[in-house]
Amino acid sequence: MGSATAGQDHWLEMCRDLSVLTAFHPMMDAVIDEVDGRMIRVGNRWLADFASCNYLGFDLDREIIDAVPESLEAWGTHPSWSRLLGSPVLYEEIETRLARLLHSEDALVLPTITHIHMSVIPLLAASGTIFIDARAHKTIYDGCQIARARGAAVKRFRFEDAGHLEELLRVERDPVRLVCIDGVNSMTGNAPDLREFARVTREHGALLYVDDAHGFGVIGERCPDETSPYGMRGNSIVRHFDEKYDNLVLVAGFSKAYSSLLAFIACPTPLKQFLKVAASPYLYSGPSPVASLATVLAGFDVNEKRGDELRAVLYRHTRRVLDCLDEFGVYTPNRSGFPIVEIPLHDHERIDAVGRILFDRGVYVTLAAFPLVPKAEVGFRIQVTAANTEAEVDSLCEAIEELTALGELRPVEAADNAQARAA
Ligand SMILES: Cc1ncc(COP(=O)(O)O)c(C=O)c1O
Repeated sequence: MGSATAGQDHWLEMCRDLSVLTAFHPMMDAVIDEVDGRMIRVGNRWLADFASCNYLGFDLDREIIDAVPESLEAWGTHPSWSRLLGSPVLYEEIETRLARLLHSEDALVLPTITHIHMSVIPLLAASGTIFIDARAHKTIYDGCQIARARGAAVKRFRFEDAGHLEELLRVERDPVRLVCIDGVNSMTGNAPDLREFARVTREHGALLYVDDAHGFGVIGERCPDETSPYGMRGNSIVRHFDEKYDNLVLVAGFSKAYSSLLAFIACPTPLKQFLKVAASPYLYSGPSPVASLATVLAGFDVNEKRGDELRAVLYRHTRRVLDCLDEFGVYTPNRSGFPIVEIPLHDHERIDAVGRILFDRGVYVTLAAFPLVPKAEVGFRIQVTAANTEAEVDSLCEAIEELTALGELRPVEAADNAQARAA
């Protein structure tokens, strides 16, 4: 790249750790040459992939792959109309099936969650006040910044702290109040106490906006004969907590558990009608490719037939990783048992070296470098999928054991992790 401007120099200095890693580390900004199941090839090295968010393994599912050619024959590769101009009937089918799965009044789909946050948060907030969880996902923050530029006020409450939110709501009596939180957190793997957040927002007449990108497809309604503690049907955090959609809109996407480029907002029909004339991506953006619409629909079928079996496998693999951490006395913030397992390092400066050890042992993970996370949380994140094999999970556990012996990970009494998850 040519010389950076003064503004870019300042940015690069702030992101120095990340830019050095991105330039030189084999596990950052990598070119993946080939995949075979959940094994990936980078150059001449094959690695077990624990950085994929394809939680249910739908990206590799033969029934889903086989559903694509027929849709391409029928619709071509890409609709190209903005949704306002016209949408293939596949969209109607997706929205109807989605609302049925979620038990929501209605649903609207748009290409990505980022599109939804950027357009829907400003519309819902108008010139009112947004209350955002301090550790909400970056794309929620970006949506709030657009809202602020259009006249909304933005206040932060402490991470997962519904009590702090309540204090702020008591003081700020703005008639339009929007509360933005994550569902299953993309860093810690934990879910907020949704019941408490729903109670607080309802009691104060606010609207709760929940981004469950990582929960949809993974967690769902609880029932006595469930195949795992994730619950059944993968119908997301609202159903998992047996909550209602009153004063609550749920946003999530198909790009993780359903391996397809599409996202949704589950909301009442009048709000959907409003978004159809007011949300920019509905009016102006290009649509998702036909292959993604086809894999979403086939994904619903597979979810109905085999989803709960796949979630049981996903839980079993995740449990094995968490048990391993308990056995070696390694700290993780994961207390939910959901398949995102963050492992902070003993010393944040060792991220490069630890990443290389994992790479050399054939284990591919997400490196969480500064400033993507605060220095105290620098480490690596494991995402488990149902398509991982037991042998791959074994190789991950062996690598963790080695890093523990080298003193690279943060120790905790084994009982603490287990106790935190039981709490
Ligand atoms: C919590 C959360 N929200 C939003 C997004 C962005 O989703 P999309 O790629 O659909 O814009 C992500 C992506 O990783 C995420 O983890």
